[in-house]
Amino acid sequence: MRFAEPFQFKRGPVAKNGSILAALTNKQSNADGTLSQAEIGFLERRAMGGFGIITTAATHVAENGQGWHGEMGVWSDSHIPGLKELAKRVSEHGSLCLAQIFHGGLKAPQAVTGVQPVSASVNEIKDGKFTRELSNDEVEEMVEKFVEAALRCEKAGLDGVEIHGAHGYLVSQFLGKKSNRRTDQWGGETIGDRATFLLEIIRRIRERTNKNFLVFVRISPELNDIGIEIDEALQLSSILSEEEIDSLHISVWDIYAQSRFDDDDRKMTQRFAQVVDGRVPLTTCGKIWEGKDIEEAYSQGADLIAVGKVGIALPDWPKMIISEDRIARPPFTKQHLRDVALSEVFVDYMCNYDNFVAQ
Ligand SMILES: Cc1cc2nc3c(=O)[nH]c(=O)nc-3n(C[C@H](O)[C@H](O)[C@H](O)COP(=O)(O)O)c2cc1C
Repeated sequence: MRFAEPFQFKRGPVAKNGSILAALTNKQSNADGTLSQAEIGFLERRAMGGFGIITTAATHVAENGQGWHGEMGVWSDSHIPGLKELAKRVSEHGSLCLAQIFHGGLKAPQAVTGVQPVSASVNEIKDGKFTRELSNDEVEEMVEKFVEAALRCEKAGLDGVEIHGAHGYLVSQFLGKKSNRRTDQWGGETIGDRATFLLEIIRRIRERTNKNFLVFVRISPELNDIGIEIDEALQLSSILSEEEIDSLHISVWDIYAQSRFDDDDRKMTQRFAQVVDGRVPLTTCGKIWEGKDIEEAYSQGADLIAVGKVGIALPDWPKMIISEDRIARPPFTKQHLRDVALSEVFVDYMCNYDNFVAQ
């Protein structure tokens, strides 16, 4: 079975199979952004369950980039010991570990950070509240924050980072034509112009980390509210395919769905795979639950399979797939979730997801 086979990255590391635990915010970090034992235990349990790659929750690269309470931080050297323990405990089970580095931008509320949110341009947050536009020097500093975060991850012994360019956070706010109206080198008419911020982050991380350090980039196929349309996202994926990245990860939410905004009847993953055309490995994620969904993702052209919710509920999911076990569906009882290494705060958080937790 293709899924069970080791996945060799061009740059060196080998994942023991083609499965990825996608980034999952779990609210379990300490107030200072350091990893808690609960969060490390949650991730380690999934490594034990056979995931080839474990991705951490989104972790903010600057203090003013924090999106919510209980979020992991990677903006200070004080975060390194926790990351080191995570790297060690995940690697003991033969899995690779990536940290998903991000900045919330307009989605980093003042109520959490204590300061006015920043973004590519002055953007409305809500209720008549606006972000501040980053100055040119501040954008330079922000690129550096991403690089320093990656260097901390490398120092801690993680295998790489995933740059979070999806879901409307700061990197996406630079990509979107509505959210980035800059006229300097960080903005412009074309997606290539607005990708400068992301490209600088990738290139500088590459320059300053060792050659085996993995760099994934996660993007959304469409975020029309901030002005990312599928055609430009496809162009972006072509641009990224020429960069020294180890995987392009598209967050499609549902591998069976088509674009909501054009009438092309191909599935999203298929459209991206055709553009990427084997230049970099393509990771897809969204509603993959059983073996037939994995086959569907491969048939659309994916190289790596990432999952979210099934990995929360069933830590042994990769092993279960390989041995063709029956895969249970939600809802799951709170006790089941506690038994698979979710702390009370994470169980409560999962109650926000429709029908995931049995009431
Ligand atoms: C509880 C929860 C937290 C999530 N946190 C993140 C995150 O920190 N970063 C991210 O890129 N996506 C995040 N996502 C999205 C998942 O990575 C994934 O794309 C999504 O759940 C779809 O995959 P699934 O259908 O396998 O669950 C989160 C999803 C869930 C359910």
